[in-house]
Amino acid sequence: MLDKSPRPTPINVPSDLAAHWMPFTANRAFKKNPRLLAGAKDMHYFTVDGRKIIDAASGMWCTNAGHGRTQISSAIAKQAEALDYAPPFQFGIPQAFELANRIAELAPAGLDHVFFCNSGSEAADTALKIALAYHQINGQGSRIRLIGRERGYHGVGFGGTSVGGIVGNRKLFGSLLTGVDHLPATYDREKQAFSKGEPDYGTHFADELERLVNLHGANTIAAVIVEPMAGSTGVLPAPKGYLKRLREITQKHGILLIFDEVITGFGRLGFAFAAERYGVVPDMLTFAKGVTNGAAPMGGVLVRDTIHDAFMSGPEHAVELTHGYTYSAHPLACAAGLATLDIYRDEKLFERAHGLEPKFADAVMSLRNEPGVVDIRTIGLTAGIDLAPQADAPGKRGFAGLNSAFHDNDLMIRVAGDTLALTPPLIVTEDQIGEIIEKVAKVIRATA
Ligand SMILES: Cc1ncc(COP(=O)(O)O)c(C=O)c1O
Repeated sequence: MLDKSPRPTPINVPSDLAAHWMPFTANRAFKKNPRLLAGAKDMHYFTVDGRKIIDAASGMWCTNAGHGRTQISSAIAKQAEALDYAPPFQFGIPQAFELANRIAELAPAGLDHVFFCNSGSEAADTALKIALAYHQINGQGSRIRLIGRERGYHGVGFGGTSVGGIVGNRKLFGSLLTGVDHLPATYDREKQAFSKGEPDYGTHFADELERLVNLHGANTIAAVIVEPMAGSTGVLPAPKGYLKRLREITQKHGILLIFDEVITGFGRLGFAFAAERYGVVPDMLTFAKGVTNGAAPMGGVLVRDTIHDAFMSGPEHAVELTHGYTYSAHPLACAAGLATLDIYRDEKLFERAHGLEPKFADAVMSLRNEPGVVDIRTIGLTAGIDLAPQADAPGKRGFAGLNSAFHDNDLMIRVAGDTLALTPPLIVTEDQIGEIIEKVAKVIRATA
């Protein structure tokens, strides 16, 4: 059938790619065999040489409503014409207040205040700083420890790196923050392999928090931060009952619980936030990525009333929280955010993801007998497929998979080591799920 989808106008590709030091990228390999993108529409990217690539990664867990949504791009364009920039310190724009209200409405009751920043990393650092400051002003200044989790990812600021638990992201950067400890990861392949949704095994990993409390003393611990589903480390859903248990233990000891929902927010697990899926309300919840469908940088922290209100004392002319960014609640990001939330609501995309979850899980599990597949995990519209690594070359097979997908199979996936991650836009059709799975099977065979 003739493909009538729009093609981007040709783009000039510089002959010299050296100056751009790319983030989290194997730069030398990339520059020898670049994966260059020129356009995107709905479920697809277009490469600079005109190929159409199906996006099984939502870019990078961002474009939940699919690409090239004109409602979002025209909202951004209109906003840029009307008001390009406004200082967010001591001044405001109506759209920032409207967006905060809309996000708070989507969040569990009690998480009623939003602090805006520009990324998931800034959101994590903001939440950790609010936790420390809250205890300080609340007369519990001894609570200075922050607890993260092994295999957790909270971005690349010093706070997020410190509570993060991916060794490769930490080891080059010195001693990081002091006073940080980590819960164990929730993954045990022997007991959980090929689980759909939350694994049955592993609630007890939450009890390790009691051990850390015994070790350090509850009155030294400010907060615990976890992702409800650890995405960047290979899609590790929380075991059944795990988050509830963490909530009980944190509550018992006066420790704040922070959910990092940078990936799980805005429909990825079939709900506005994973907190709703699990019926667990944290004290703070970080978001980014899907809030603007990736069309403008934005992140933020949802904060519980009691924490916010504790800051609202002292002289009224004084700044209550000495924290914020030049681009907090940037007008273009606010416009993108409002248009994005309209699309999520009008197209019922969270419900759509929820409805597709069983079909998606079955489709991905059909790959279990492909060569060297050692585990598959699925949750919401997300899956991690662990491939047996090549001997003495961890990560090489995953990297080969990324290239095989892009160059040979017109497919975009994410890889974490030797894990292939699938996380398509929530607009994906059942046929497109089938197409993605066929392509992934080819990638797995090509790298075996
Ligand atoms: C759970 C989580 N937190 C934080 C971040 C960091 O977000 P950013 O890259 O926008 O700083 C990410 C990015 O993937 C993430 O997955």
